[in-house]
Amino acid sequence: MALIEVNKVSYAYSDGSLALENVNMKIEEGEKVAILGPNGAGKSTLFHLFNGISKPKSGTITIDGLQVCKKNLVKIRQMVGMVFQDSDDQLFNSTVRQEIAYGLLNMGMSGKELEDTIAWALKVVGMTGYDDKSPHNLSGGQKKRIALASVLAMKPKVMVLDEPTAALDPRGVHKLIELLDMINKKLGITLIFATHDVDTVPLLADTVYLLDKGSIVTGGTIEEVFNQKELIRKIDLRLPRVAHLVEILKKDGAVNVDHLPLTIGQAKYVLENKNLYKKI
Ligand SMILES: Nc1ncnc2c1ncn2[C@@H]1O[C@H](COP(=O)(O)OP(=O)(O)OP(=O)(O)O)[C@@H](O)[C@H]1O
Ligand SMILES: [Mg+2]
Repeated sequence: MALIEVNKVSYAYSDGSLALENVNMKIEEGEKVAILGPNGAGKSTLFHLFNGISKPKSGTITIDGLQVCKKNLVKIRQMVGMVFQDSDDQLFNSTVRQEIAYGLLNMGMSGKELEDTIAWALKVVGMTGYDDKSPHNLSGGQKKRIALASVLAMKPKVMVLDEPTAALDPRGVHKLIELLDMINKKLGITLIFATHDVDTVPLLADTVYLLDKGSIVTGGTIEEVFNQKELIRKIDLRLPRVAHLVEILKKDGAVNVDHLPLTIGQAKYVLENKNLYKKI
C-alpha cells in the first residue's frame, strides 16, 4: 500500500464547475512529488482535499491507510502539513513563537518539550532568534520559512506545499530548494508540491504528475514526463530553459543527445562532452 492513494477523485465547486475529474495517484513514503499544471488546472483544489479542507464529490483519498473524511480529520491533519501559497493566509499570530506554538499547544504539548520543539523548528528553517518578531513584519521568504517551521514542528509525515517558490527571489528559491531537500532526506518527510515553475521541478522532485483541466494527463519520473515535449507544450507549459536551449542546439546539429538535460548541471555535462548525456 502506498502512503497516499488518490482513487477516482472528482470535485465540483458549489457553482457546478468541475475542478477535478477522476484523479488517480499513488505516492510512496519519502517521495518528492510535483503536481505540475497551468493556472486553473486544479492543483490547489487537489491540495485542499489532501487534508480535508474540502471533500471529494466522488472517490477516496487515503493517507497511511486512513481515509480523509470527517471522523479521521484530527489524525489526518497531524499527518499532513499544509503550506499555503500565500504565507499571509497561514500566519495569524502576533509573534513567531506563538505562531509555531499554536498547533503544538492544541496537541497538548507544554513546558520544556514545547520550548525545545519551537527552537528545533526555527533552527531547521534557519530562523533562530526570530522568536519575538511579528510574522507580519518579515520578508516574503522569511514568512515562508516560518510557515514551514510551524508545519514542521508538528512532525508531519507528509508536507503539501502549494506553489512554494512563488513570490521568492532567485536566492530565496535556491535556499528553499535546499531546505526542502534536507527536510525530505534528513527528516524523511514525503513532499508534494504544486507548481507551474518547470525550471524548479527537476531540482526538487523525483516524480511528476501533469495536471490539466482537472485531469492527470501523465505521470512518471522527471525524465519520463519531460521527454513528452508535445504534451507539455499542449497544456501551456514549457520545457526547462536549459532543455529548450539544448533542443535548439540539437536541431542545429551542434549536440547529439537522446534525452534533453533538465538542469544546469546536466546541461554542463552535455555541452562539455558534446555528445553524451548522463543523469547527474
Ligand atoms: N471557489 C471556487 N468556486 C468555483 N470555482 C472555483 C473556485 N476555486 C477554483 N475554482 C475553479 O476550479 C478550477 C481549478 O482551480 P484551482 O485553484 O484548483 O487551480 P490551480 O491549478 O491551483 O491554479 P493556479 O495555478 O492559478 O493556482 C479553476 O477552473 C477555477 O476557476
Ligand atoms: Mg493554485
